[in-house]
Amino acid sequence: MTAASLAAHPPAPGDGPLPPDLATVAQAAEAAIQRGEDHGWSVADLDWAAIRPELLTEADVSVVRFITFIEDHIPGYVTALLHAFPVDGAEHDLPVVALNREYFRFFIAWAHDEERHASALTRYQETAGLADPRQLRLDLAAEGRKHMTLPYLEPLEIFTYTMLQEKATQLFYQQFRGAISEPALRELLLRLGRDEARHFAFYSHLVEEYLRRDPAAAAPHLKEVLRTFRMPLAETLPRYRRWSQEVAATAGYDHRQSYLALERLVDSYTRTAGDSLDEVAALLRAARSLP
Ligand SMILES: [Fe+2]
Ligand SMILES: [Fe+2]
Repeated sequence: MTAASLAAHPPAPGDGPLPPDLATVAQAAEAAIQRGEDHGWSVADLDWAAIRPELLTEADVSVVRFITFIEDHIPGYVTALLHAFPVDGAEHDLPVVALNREYFRFFIAWAHDEERHASALTRYQETAGLADPRQLRLDLAAEGRKHMTLPYLEPLEIFTYTMLQEKATQLFYQQFRGAISEPALRELLLRLGRDEARHFAFYSHLVEEYLRRDPAAAAPHLKEVLRTFRMPLAETLPRYRRWSQEVAATAGYDHRQSYLALERLVDSYTRTAGDSLDEVAALLRAARSLP
């Protein structure tokens, strides 16, 4: 699908902003998957014998429990994504399915990474003696079975939402790593943070493509996500608000940093676009100054 072929079949009103070009997405997905392969690691690569649980504070343990719940929600997340970007069913337009097929390649590689994060954190809790293995799995299943729905329908909004989460988790793992002394967890957080940075790069590439192709139509969608953004599980995990505040304090983390990346992206387009992008930039600045 090229820009010319898309122009021959213009999207109907209300269809949302012009999607990225098929060839561009195919290349981006292929490159992102290859980067993942080149920097691949497995749970067995970690030096599990090096864990020194006595170096963990109670607050550190609480953070590990929290991030295990978050990462362990990958089955629900990937199910929602596959539902939002269908590749089976003749009722779906062919150009849409072709584009979704490229997204699928990345989603599977991404889900594999996130599954490894969940497995590694679960094993960490078990090996460090932070939880009874059977009870931990039951606790994770109790949260994991809570149905997850993506709060957005428009693909650009889903990508923006996911991009912000990837940046937020990347920054969080970096910050938390700097705040702890337990060597095995530090090593694990380094690997998690690098993976999240790669995930962010792919999703931000997509968001950037939307902005490049159709800045005025993309802006309201970015704005909508920034206005309403909440981390997944904020609605379902017990005590989420209090717990996430404690976790942030332990790690010395400021969640507003994730907005900076998007602001930089949007800023680079404000000169060429109209008022709506200026509004997005203003909103990002406002989001950063929130308490
Ligand atoms: Fe992750
Ligand atoms: Fe990620």
